[in-house]
Amino acid sequence: MQLNDFKHIFQSGTGDSTLLLLHGTGADEGDLIPLARQLGWTGHILSLRGRVSEQGMPRFFKRLSFGVFDLEDLALRTQELLDYLPVAAAHYGFDRQQLDSLGYSNGANLIGSALLRAPGCFRKSVLLRPMIPFQPEKPATEAPGEVLLLSGSNDPTVPAGMPEAYAQLLSAYYPGQVRLELLPGGHGLSQADLSMAQGFLLGVSS
Ligand code: MLT
Repeated sequence: MQLNDFKHIFQSGTGDSTLLLLHGTGADEGDLIPLARQLGWTGHILSLRGRVSEQGMPRFFKRLSFGVFDLEDLALRTQELLDYLPVAAAHYGFDRQQLDSLGYSNGANLIGSALLRAPGCFRKSVLLRPMIPFQPEKPATEAPGEVLLLSGSNDPTVPAGMPEAYAQLLSAYYPGQVRLELLPGGHGLSQADLSMAQGFLLGVSS
């Protein structure tokens, strides 16, 4: 992978930490930066645009229909992301080991796929309105990494029971390091999401 294989925004911040941002379907690399800044994130930011277009809407991997993922494409796109991160780290001079991630919906699903495929690939991850991206065939290998799942208790895009099953699946890889919060509401974000993401990423509450 080369630096411009992903359209992206890199913003330098203070300290050694970098936050990777992956948007939801139809958004772009500018979408989540205000949210990250609203959280009070002052470190570096690397925000990517999905390389797949669904009728002009950027996504991080293809889907066959609503909520049904193209697993072959997902595997390929996950590997592309994992290959891209060291390229971006070398170019911008950030520490790949101090990389946190935050994704919304489709972007959260690519982060989740990376967490399952390459355990330990991120230090802290916030998955906003995620779905189980795929069911791994290999036994889980334990790795360091903390995960916060923020799900809507009434989210029409996520089947009932999936958030709990996903937290359980991730816990096999990241024992004792996975937290699920089922928040009132649907697929859209609320102030509660922001407060919880902030507390988790920055260790503060608003
Ligand atoms: C997906 O990855 O397809 C999401 O869960 C739903 C969406 O992004 O529209």
